[in-house]
Amino acid sequence: MIYTVTLNPAMDKTAIVPNLTLDAVNRITELRQDPGGKGINVSKVIKKLGGTSNAMALLGGNTGKALRAMLLDAEIDVVAFEVEGETRTNLKIVDPENDTHTDINEPGPVVNEEILDAMLKNLEAKIDVGDIVVMSGSLPKGAPDATYRTWAAELKAKGAKVFLDVDGEKLREGIEAVPYLVKPNEIELGGILGKKLETPAQVAEAARMLVDKGIEKVVVSMGGAGAVFAENGRVVHGISPKVKVGSTVGAGDSVVAALAYAEERGMSLEDTVRLSMATGAANVMQSGTQAAERELVDSLIDQVGIEEL
Ligand SMILES: Nc1ncnc2c1ncn2[C@@H]1O[C@H](COP(=O)(O)OP(=O)(O)OP(=O)(O)O)[C@@H](O)[C@H]1O
Ligand SMILES: [Mg+2]
Repeated sequence: MIYTVTLNPAMDKTAIVPNLTLDAVNRITELRQDPGGKGINVSKVIKKLGGTSNAMALLGGNTGKALRAMLLDAEIDVVAFEVEGETRTNLKIVDPENDTHTDINEPGPVVNEEILDAMLKNLEAKIDVGDIVVMSGSLPKGAPDATYRTWAAELKAKGAKVFLDVDGEKLREGIEAVPYLVKPNEIELGGILGKKLETPAQVAEAARMLVDKGIEKVVVSMGGAGAVFAENGRVVHGISPKVKVGSTVGAGDSVVAALAYAEERGMSLEDTVRLSMATGAANVMQSGTQAAERELVDSLIDQVGIEEL
């Protein structure tokens, strides 16, 4: 089973506002709502790829209820942990006339350690050896910086393959727990190493260092340039198909989804590279955070390049 963890989910509200103007009344011409938060995005993409996952999320208030209902409607299993307060709504204002994207994000509820512990215990009790747990995204207020490190260590001890996709201090801390897979982008990885990673060769060298620390699989995404995949004894550059970009929001999440799907099916490194780069490209072709259809992913698979490093 694949479990995704979303500690700070959001209802993503996308509003189309032609000619957005400050200090004026603006009118929305189109509005859509999507369940969001990195772990939830991963679950949505896994579903489109034809897999299943269990989305574990901290949810609160009416927004939390609505978010849960939308996921169930999309046939995604949700395990909701109720928090006090209201799950945040993140407003994305798209102005097609001026081609601007403005995000206004709510802070979200404050959590306490009891609820985090209850969630971790619940997840631990579910884990069978070899299950995948994807941990990604920001931490809610009240959650200690070391939350992902603690969770990764405990879940790994239960036999789970922990996938970690976080940035900054959370990444630096999380790596210490030696998760099964990490997927930073090149800026996030360079950030914790204190250097700029510009070429695939520099990225490969940094990825090898993490493999040497015991992390089984290191995938460093590089936007339109694809990603470097490192595991014991092998490093390859997956070259992304060239596509027309709609929105790159959630590109990384879609790659993580494909990596989890591929891992669950025991796919080879080559097939994993092809599927994840095709999934990333298919998802950046979409205009919002909607996940791309599997047919589109499949149509791009043959356009993925693989280069040994
Ligand atoms: N312009 C693009 N053209 C084709 N594929 C792309 C493009 N941008 C991103 N991708 C695909 O998406 C993957 C992940 O992108 P990126 O490295 O930007 O992730 P990220 O920075 O983690 O994103 P996120 O904002 O979701 O956290 C890339 O490895 C690539 O496969
Ligand atoms: Mg990312």
